[in-house]
Amino acid sequence: MKKGKKIYEGKAKIIYATTDKNLAIQYFKDDATAFNNQKKTTIEGKGVLNNRISEYILSNLSQIGIKNHLVKRLNMREQVIKLVEIIPIEFIIRNVATGSITKRLGIEDGTVLKEPLIEYCLKDDALGDPLISEEHINAFEWANKKEIEKIKKIILRINDFMIGMFRGINIKLIDFKLEFGRLKVNGKNEIILADEISPDTCRLWDSMTDKKLDKDRFRKDLGDLIPAYTEVAKRLGILHEQSNISAVNVTKLSSIKKRK
Ligand code: TMP
Repeated sequence: MKKGKKIYEGKAKIIYATTDKNLAIQYFKDDATAFNNQKKTTIEGKGVLNNRISEYILSNLSQIGIKNHLVKRLNMREQVIKLVEIIPIEFIIRNVATGSITKRLGIEDGTVLKEPLIEYCLKDDALGDPLISEEHINAFEWANKKEIEKIKKIILRINDFMIGMFRGINIKLIDFKLEFGRLKVNGKNEIILADEISPDTCRLWDSMTDKKLDKDRFRKDLGDLIPAYTEVAKRLGILHEQSNISAVNVTKLSSIKKRK
């Protein structure tokens, strides 16, 4: 399998075709954007950390039977994925109210929700990913009713699993975003989890101090994003203390890889 042409470039990742028509390569960039591209910068080493963290979470989800697009991590910044037809919806799952929902509905920041809340946004940068309802999804045929019911069940399992996984390392899973795709299996469409799960797409707060260990460090100009993502990776056991992969080393390793 060889890397081919760029198929798609998003704000944080690039998808390349491969010589196998069913597989693609997902490349994690260092670019960080917020508020639909209004704020952007490059944070050296972010892509490397997200690649590792997303690989870890998606592999664990596979182990509990949640099908997803990850085949294997290739190197510091790339993974082989199954090529799917992405459903044009961002599925947001909230356990605690913060971010856009607090502004939109006047809810107090940090309000614990009595059950997980699923919101849908249309994946359309030009429109600013507007909030939509299940009725919109149905009316405009972005997904059918059966697909949405299936996705909701998968989302709740992922949420339960991830709450537990993060709780075990003293992190609260506040909210996160998921994307799903259609994969043709024996002529039938199967729904599988796609995209990434990383501190770019989750809100993760330290259980004791509520310190933000996610992209809010960039969104809110809190600084120290790489140390926060590195802390998440270390607590997950991906980066071992003894291997001493600091943010600086992550950056060095990634640039060594790039130069090859
Ligand atoms: P929000 O509070 O800005 O709506 O974000 C909710 C969660 O979804 C948060 O964990 C960040 C994540 N998210 C993305 O990953 N991509 C996006 O484009 C947006 C708007 C949110």
